Amino acid sequence: MNRNSHALLIACLLTLAGWGTTGIQAAEPQNTPADLFVLGGELSNSAATSVEDIDEVMPRMKALGLNTVLVPAYWELMEPQEGHFDFTLIDRTIEQARQLQLKVVFLWFGAWKNSMSCYAPLWFKQDTKRFPRARTQYGKPLEIATPFSEQVFQADNKAFEALVKHISQTGSDVVTMIQVENEIGMLEDARDHSKLANEVYQKGVPQELVSYLKKNQKTLHPWLKARFDAKGKTWTEVFGDDIYTDEIFMAYYYAKYVGRLCETALRYTQMPLYVNAAMNSRGRQPGQYPSAGPLAHLIDLWHCGAPQLLCLAPDIYDTGFKGWANQYALQNNRLFIPESRCCENSGARALYAFGEHRALGFSPFAIDQASPSETESVTKAYNLLRQVYSLNSPLTSWGLLFDQEDKERIINDGDMVITCRHYFTLPWDPRATNGSVWPEGGAILLKLGNNEYLLAGTGVVVAFASAYEKAHEQQQLLGEDGFVVAGSPSSISHLPSAIFKGSRKGIASVDEVTIDKQGKMHRLRRLNGDQDHQGRHARIACGEWRILHVRLYDYN
Ligand code: DGJ
Repeated sequence: MNRNSHALLIACLLTLAGWGTTGIQAAEPQNTPADLFVLGGELSNSAATSVEDIDEVMPRMKALGLNTVLVPAYWELMEPQEGHFDFTLIDRTIEQARQLQLKVVFLWFGAWKNSMSCYAPLWFKQDTKRFPRARTQYGKPLEIATPFSEQVFQADNKAFEALVKHISQTGSDVVTMIQVENEIGMLEDARDHSKLANEVYQKGVPQELVSYLKKNQKTLHPWLKARFDAKGKTWTEVFGDDIYTDEIFMAYYYAKYVGRLCETALRYTQMPLYVNAAMNSRGRQPGQYPSAGPLAHLIDLWHCGAPQLLCLAPDIYDTGFKGWANQYALQNNRLFIPESRCCENSGARALYAFGEHRALGFSPFAIDQASPSETESVTKAYNLLRQVYSLNSPLTSWGLLFDQEDKERIINDGDMVITCRHYFTLPWDPRATNGSVWPEGGAILLKLGNNEYLLAGTGVVVAFASAYEKAHEQQQLLGEDGFVVAGSPSSISHLPSAIFKGSRKGIASVDEVTIDKQGKMHRLRRLNGDQDHQGRHARIACGEWRILHVRLYDYN
């Protein structure tokens, strides 16, 4: 893989792609490394708990076409006895990755994993006097260590420090990022009601937080901005009297805890650090979902408490992939998706994330346990992305992602109007109309120059028109032979407004290409006639994964 050209492409995307169709022009987050390009896969939770399993799984990850494997680092196995560290699993992961020319992102399963302290060693779990627990408002202790205990922090921090130090000494050529904890958040209640937590809560909102929010008022997340009243002193005076204020309180202190861990790590490495979040989905309330995790609406609390973080990363399992991704592709947060359900649609989603949001990475979860039909699309999409990212010219890109409900997107690119649709909007595949669930269609669309585009993906059809021509267009229903169905509005009209006075876009050529590591395109075949509907569109069928080089010309 040509890392330099990746870096150059990403740098160009950063400059030119802006914020996709959102139109937001934003300053780049300060600490974004230019060359992060994670074609990832996250191992299932217990996949790296023995040397044998690591040896078995890592080559399989290579064969799937990943460039990065996200691997847990388990506190309980790393420090089974207090103060005695065992890096066997970490070392084996690094050795395997090095041999296979893979990169690794380690996930610190430390004090919290999916809210719980299940990966803390037993000596920690059993000693609740030294390492007190979070409690519900009814006093029920949880298997969640309280972040308000200095002993909890010191124990977690000591192990995290040992891990980062070890990685910096033995694996800095392989390890590209570290995830700090895993899906932090309070469950069963919106906030911790332990004695330590209540003492902190009673002190009111720290001046540091009020000053931060005042200073950054212009860029605050609208949700927080609407709640924030700088004149107050107590948590409810400043943020309102409801359950979300409990979440805000908790988010600030979780973030401060993480910020201290980041400070520790930065003593040994400049490696990017990030946190991942379980989504606040399905109409749940804080505490029903992991309250106070690194969620989009809490981003300012997290930025205030842990400014060292590269990004807040969404774990997207819910329906509505695009909507969740859009929430985390913010002007002050680059999109990185460390977990997403591994399924037949994963590949299409990856193309969307990179194309639309120039994501830092994408990674289906438990990819080691997925079936070949589930991993196939990932392999195919990553193969396309690798090729596209080796182009080294400045590019603007868009991401396409379609399903049965959301099947069309119109892109306005200067005078060019690009109508992008799901492949099944064409009548040529029986699955389009026979009641089958449509597989998602996804692609990255890149502008190579005037009248020149690259379409890399699956299950999409793209037509090009001048703005004038598009405005003049009438919807017509096509039969499977490509001709207009009788009774559909005809383009033959005798109204004066039907007189055509502008220019049109025609297809000069559609070539299926490959792109080599130096960024040079090679034509595999010319697609004309039936394959571009006699010059009307460029398309990639569902189940096919292709790169099409499309050239247009103007005529009148
Ligand atoms: C999200 C967690 O981060 C993962 O470790 C795993 O538990 C998945 N959920 C399971 O769906």
